[in-house]
Amino acid sequence: MILVTGAAGGQQGATGRKVAELLLERGEEVRAFVRADDERAAELRKLGAEVVVGDLREITTVRPAMRGVTRAYFTYPVTAGLLDATAAFAAAAREEGVSRVVEVSQLDAQPEAGTPRMRRHWLSEQVFDWAGVGAVHLRAGVFFENLAVVVAAAGRLALPLGPPSTKIPLVAGADVARVGAGLLLDPDPVDPVCLLTGEMSTAGAAAEALGVEYADLPPEEWEAGAMEVYRDAYAVEHLTHLWALFRAIGDGDHPLYRVTGTIERHGGQPPLTLREFATG
Ligand SMILES: NC(=O)c1ccc[n+]([C@@H]2O[C@H](COP(=O)([O-])OP(=O)(O)OC[C@H]3O[C@@H](n4cnc5c(N)ncnc54)[C@H](OP(=O)(O)O)[C@@H]3O)[C@@H](O)[C@H]2O)c1
Repeated sequence: MILVTGAAGGQQGATGRKVAELLLERGEEVRAFVRADDERAAELRKLGAEVVVGDLREITTVRPAMRGVTRAYFTYPVTAGLLDATAAFAAAAREEGVSRVVEVSQLDAQPEAGTPRMRRHWLSEQVFDWAGVGAVHLRAGVFFENLAVVVAAAGRLALPLGPPSTKIPLVAGADVARVGAGLLLDPDPVDPVCLLTGEMSTAGAAAEALGVEYADLPPEEWEAGAMEVYRDAYAVEHLTHLWALFRAIGDGDHPLYRVTGTIERHGGQPPLTLREFATG
C-alpha cells in the first residue's frame, strides 16, 4: 500500500494527484490522503484509490492513514504548517516501519537559504532523515505551474525579476510526479537527495514559451498585488524573497543552475519543456 498525500491536487503543481494517477495506472494499491471529500476525492475513488480524509498537521488523522503502508509520498503546499505536517507524517511513518518516504522540497533547501520556506524545507528534510524512513528529498526548481498562475492573473509574465536575461530554473509538476512515482516503485537503494530542474530558462524566454510578454515589475508593486492573487501571506512572503534571489543572481552563474539527469533517470522520459507545457 502506497500512501499519497496532496492527492486531490491543488494550484501549485498537483504533484500528489499526478503521483496517485501514475501509481494507479500501474496497478498499485494507493491510499489517497485528501483534505476534503469533494468531487476530486470521488474521481480518485473511481480511479481505484482508497480515499482517506484528514489534515496532515493532525496526528489523529495521519496515524490511521499510515496503517499497512510500506511507501509514501509527502507534499504540503506553500502555506503555514509544513513543520507540523512533517512531524506528524514522520512520526507515523516511523511507527509503521515505512521503508521509503518521497517528499517534495525545494531546490535550495539549506539552513542559510534565502527564503523562510526554503529554510523550513531543510528542517523538514532533517526531521524525515532522523525518522529513519528512507526519506528521498525532491529538491525542485520553480514549477511551470507557478508561472502559469502569474500569466493567468496578469495576462503577461509580470514578475520582479529585473531584465529579461534573468535566469530561472524550472520544472514541470508532471515531471516531479513522474520522478516521485518512479522512486516509490524502485526496489533498489536511491540517493536521498534528488535535484530536479528540467529547463534552465530566462524571464524573457519563459514569457515567449508561454506566448506572452515579460514585464519587469518593481518589487514593491509585485508585493502589493500578490495578496490578491495568492490570498496567503506565507506564500507571498516566500515568493517575494524567491523572485528577489533570482533578480540578484540575474544572468550570472549559480551551482544549482543546471538541468539535472534525474528526471529521465527516475521519471523514465526526458523533461517536459515549458513550450510543451504551454501548448500541451
Ligand atoms: N510552486 C513551485 O514553484 C514549487 C517549486 C518547488 C517546490 N515546490 C514545493 O511543492 C510543494 C507543493 O506542490 P504540490 O504540487 O503538492 O501543491 P498543490 O498542487 O498546491 O497541492 C497541495 C495539496 O495538498 C492539500 N493540502 C493542503 N493543506 C492540507 C492539509 N493541511 N492536510 C491535507 N492536505 C492538505 C491540498 O488540498 P486542497 O486542494 O483540498 O486544499 C492539495 O491537494 C511544496 O512543498 C512546495 O514548496 C513548489
